[in-house]
Amino acid sequence: MARTPQSSPPVLPGFAYLRPLGAGGFADVFLYEQDLPRRTVAVKVLSSDAIDPAARRLFDAEANAMAQLSMHPSILTIHQASISSDGRPYLVTEYCPETFGERYRRAPIALPVVLDTGIRMAAALETAHRAGMLHRDVKPSNILVTQLGQPVLGDFGIAASASGPDDQEQLVAMSIPWSSPEVVSERTTGTVRSEIWSLGATLYTLLAGRSPFASPERERNTRELMRERVLRAHYTPLHRPDVPPQVEQLLARTMAKDPEQRPSTMLQLAEELRRLQQELGLLPTPIDVASGIAAPSAGPQDGRGPVISTVSRDSRRAARAAGQTPSVSRDPDEVVVAARGGGWKAGIVGGVVAGVIVAATIVVLLLTGVIG
Ligand SMILES: Nc1ncnc2c1ncn2[C@@H]1O[C@H](COP(=O)(O)OP(=O)(O)OP(=O)(O)O)[C@@H](O)[C@H]1O
Ligand SMILES: [Mg+2]
Repeated sequence: MARTPQSSPPVLPGFAYLRPLGAGGFADVFLYEQDLPRRTVAVKVLSSDAIDPAARRLFDAEANAMAQLSMHPSILTIHQASISSDGRPYLVTEYCPETFGERYRRAPIALPVVLDTGIRMAAALETAHRAGMLHRDVKPSNILVTQLGQPVLGDFGIAASASGPDDQEQLVAMSIPWSSPEVVSERTTGTVRSEIWSLGATLYTLLAGRSPFASPERERNTRELMRERVLRAHYTPLHRPDVPPQVEQLLARTMAKDPEQRPSTMLQLAEELRRLQQELGLLPTPIDVASGIAAPSAGPQDGRGPVISTVSRDSRRAARAAGQTPSVSRDPDEVVVAARGGGWKAGIVGGVVAGVIVAATIVVLLLTGVIG
């Protein structure tokens, strides 16, 4: 169940507050009605304990990353970003009645829905990667379901420029259940292949009703034990009669301990998922990949550094991470830790140089599934 916001909804001219929607590590989320155009919107407000320069940069980065990528059909639409009269930065986004974080806890999700969602998310992430951005927090609660029932990727809160330095001291919040071994062991703060692991772990979670390394025994889900199991990366089969071995094989490959054994790009993963759809006689999902989107400017003029995955040490999320919450989580899939990045070069997204392609034409390659 979504956490309750700890802050009060800000007074926003042109918006009427309706009700709380939830809370995350950095922000509280509220439902508002916008006057003009009249529509319900989600307003994500940076929590007051997180307002410091680092958190502000993070928030700005989320707004910029999402604005750049918003035109993608599987990325949450952002309408506006501003600062409330009481000084809290906020984002106005499309309202989504549900997230997959809630959905998988309610009931296991049908295989065709999971394959379709996987392809859409892989295409959204391929688009982000081509724009030089990593998401870094791919997990079920960051896949929202629009009012039309379509999955969209949200929460670019700890997105980072893929070509930015990964060797400076930074606190990175990670959601252990969906983080790859190399991220959990702090060898990197994120790569394309670590995102492939996270998307694979997310799809596994939707099918299994629990994350891949969560134990059915609650007391075995301490952060430390969960971390150890992720590091061992031993794949446990789903044992779902409607999930054929080739689906298990692909999931196991996305979660291979050695990143080199995983699919090398999100596009490749999307294509493999679509091949499975075809083998199973399912309608293939189109793979929408946009190229040529410029990454948000990281120039000195806007005071933003290229790597924006820093989490304020005092933030709610960092506090959760530092273990100020009980080490046995109520819900094993809420285990989040802070880690220190450093010493490692990301070395990823070969050929992508963030922020280089200014005003480039967006080429939407509809690698259509309707062939044949
Ligand atoms: N656009 C939206 N429409 C409707 N509800 C939303 C929207 N965005 C977020 N929420 C709700 O608010 C909650 C908090 O969102 P937020 O992105 O801040 O954190 P999170 O993804 O749950 O966790 P974390 O901070 O660990 O990433 C979500 O779990 C969801 O229930
Ligand atoms: Mg989120």
